[in-house]
Amino acid sequence: MSVQSHIAHIRQDYCLAALDEQTTGDNPIHFFHRWFDEALTAQLTEVNAMTLATVSADGKPHARIVLLKGIEDGGFTFFTNYSSAKGHQIETNDKVAILFFWKELERQVRIEGTIQKLPEAESDIYFNSRPEGSRLGAWASPQSQVITDRNIIEQNYATYEAKFAGGAIPRPAHWGGYNVMPEQIEFWQGRSNRMHDRILFTIDETGEWNKSRLAP
Ligand SMILES: Cc1cc2nc3c(=O)[nH]c(=O)nc-3n(C[C@H](O)[C@H](O)[C@H](O)COP(=O)(O)O)c2cc1C
Repeated sequence: MSVQSHIAHIRQDYCLAALDEQTTGDNPIHFFHRWFDEALTAQLTEVNAMTLATVSADGKPHARIVLLKGIEDGGFTFFTNYSSAKGHQIETNDKVAILFFWKELERQVRIEGTIQKLPEAESDIYFNSRPEGSRLGAWASPQSQVITDRNIIEQNYATYEAKFAGGAIPRPAHWGGYNVMPEQIEFWQGRSNRMHDRILFTIDETGEWNKSRLAP
């Protein structure tokens, strides 16, 4: 069997659970917490890993994984380099999507919304909670830039390690948090025969969440 035809035959039926409008309740943030807790209880690895999609000025989509670090005031928080490719894309287009896939639970959560930088004081608090190596790494890596070889960042790391030796490592201005404020959240539960359950929440101008069921 060729690799191509092998791929075509990979097929998983989903049968673990069902999802209905009663189960989700009326607040998708509360329900997200519930699913996240269930993912934690199930001891999934990288449970907070989410795909972040951004759009560049030329209209092209870009996606990569980042780690969810909190849910504050209904917003989903992660940390990164503001001068990275994603940082530049966010600067020109504040519409983003994030996505969680918890395959062991046969669940997907799709979130679309608007992104903004976290207040500097909050980025400072999180930065200062990181291990020393990660704090130095934030200084050492010009994230997303082409580098001629790995030595560049190794040397940068050593330079900053020496510079901050014995003292505090401040947060670089180019590094901090973002908050994604959701405008819609869809919960997907895999079901048998591709007859999956999809419950979509959208927020209206008054801040109320409205709920609907989508065909799979
Ligand atoms: C499991 C995992 C977790 C990651 N977490 C982060 C993160 O929290 N922040 C971050 O900037 N990059 C994270 N990355 C790296 C990003 O996927 C990406 O390579 C990097 O942010 C550069 O993306 P960009 O060039 O599109 O800006 C993670 C990658 C993986 C695979």
